[in-house]
Amino acid sequence: MAPRSWQAFFLLHLLLFWSAYGMVPEPQNVHLHSVMLDSVLKWDPPDFHKENLVYTVQYKTKFSDVFSDMCRRIVFTKCNVSNIPVYGPSTIQVRTEFENEYSKWVNITFTPNRQTHIGPPAIQVEATKPGVLNVQLIEPRFTRNAGSLKDFYASVIYRIRIWKKYRNTEQVLEVNTTDTFQVIHDLDPMTTYCLKAQAVIEELNKDGQWSEPICTNTTGIDLHPGLLTVAILLVLISFPFFSLIIFYIYRRIKYVFFPSYSLPQHFKEFLSKPSYGSQFLMPHSQEEEHVYNKIIVLSEESKHIANECKKQLSNAEQQLKQSPEENYKPKGGSDCISLIHT
Ligand SMILES: *[C@@H]1O[C@H](CO)[C@@H](O)[C@H](O)[C@H]1NC(C)=O
Repeated sequence: MAPRSWQAFFLLHLLLFWSAYGMVPEPQNVHLHSVMLDSVLKWDPPDFHKENLVYTVQYKTKFSDVFSDMCRRIVFTKCNVSNIPVYGPSTIQVRTEFENEYSKWVNITFTPNRQTHIGPPAIQVEATKPGVLNVQLIEPRFTRNAGSLKDFYASVIYRIRIWKKYRNTEQVLEVNTTDTFQVIHDLDPMTTYCLKAQAVIEELNKDGQWSEPICTNTTGIDLHPGLLTVAILLVLISFPFFSLIIFYIYRRIKYVFFPSYSLPQHFKEFLSKPSYGSQFLMPHSQEEEHVYNKIIVLSEESKHIANECKKQLSNAEQQLKQSPEENYKPKGGSDCISLIHT
């Protein structure tokens, strides 16, 4: 059969069906779409014969016996049912109508305050200090009389979730608050954080929709102009002081590791002559008589002590000449001992 014949075939059967049972097919897939008590009943047309069909929607509360019309003989497949009472269940029904015929009612039960979706709050974020974000939530409003959540619910809290943008899996922080303004501390400075928020109706254990994530950078180290001036002044004042300390440390290091010995001039000359210098390297014959002179090397700083000890030293030399085998035992002060033994 051609498509047209198919249509005629179905229409014939439909008419036979209607005349036999006096019934128009019911609306399909009846459902409610409700956000912030803005509620719309929606449905699909019956499977066949989509022309000239109209729909009627009625409701009644639990305490009422009669239904009231909400949408009467409309051609659209949706009806705004926001005006039904918010508290307590209502029965909503819809049917198809065709000329003087109509379908069976399709019923659904709807309790607006319990079943409506809670919309997301809007978020405003401000990075004021390093590691601190000020979060201002703007609570979702009801379309009817722009009411707030607190107008309809006893216990409303807000849940704020914060995470680092470039570590998506790691949840940083979750804050539950009854206040729409929240200061979040202890975040890392100069880091991108993302936030989202939802309202939670505690008495119904009902979570609202999450807001779209909003990302912001925390500020860096706070350099207040006054603070900066003080810091520069401190550096300028302490510079001479630290210079002195460094100079002192330098002197100590130089004294310990690089003492300034001054060899006598004639000794330097002696060492600089190659003939004498090489003598030390040559093997010595047994018969050669060895003559040693005692050389005491003094640092510049020790010179004044050396002067005081000169007398003692000459005594010591005399003693050595008289009896070279004996060990020299100095009788002077400790300064002299340490000097000679160095
Ligand atoms: C439903 O009706 C209410 C007022 O009765 C209105 O505020 C709301 O915007 C309507 N919703 C839709 C989806 O048309």
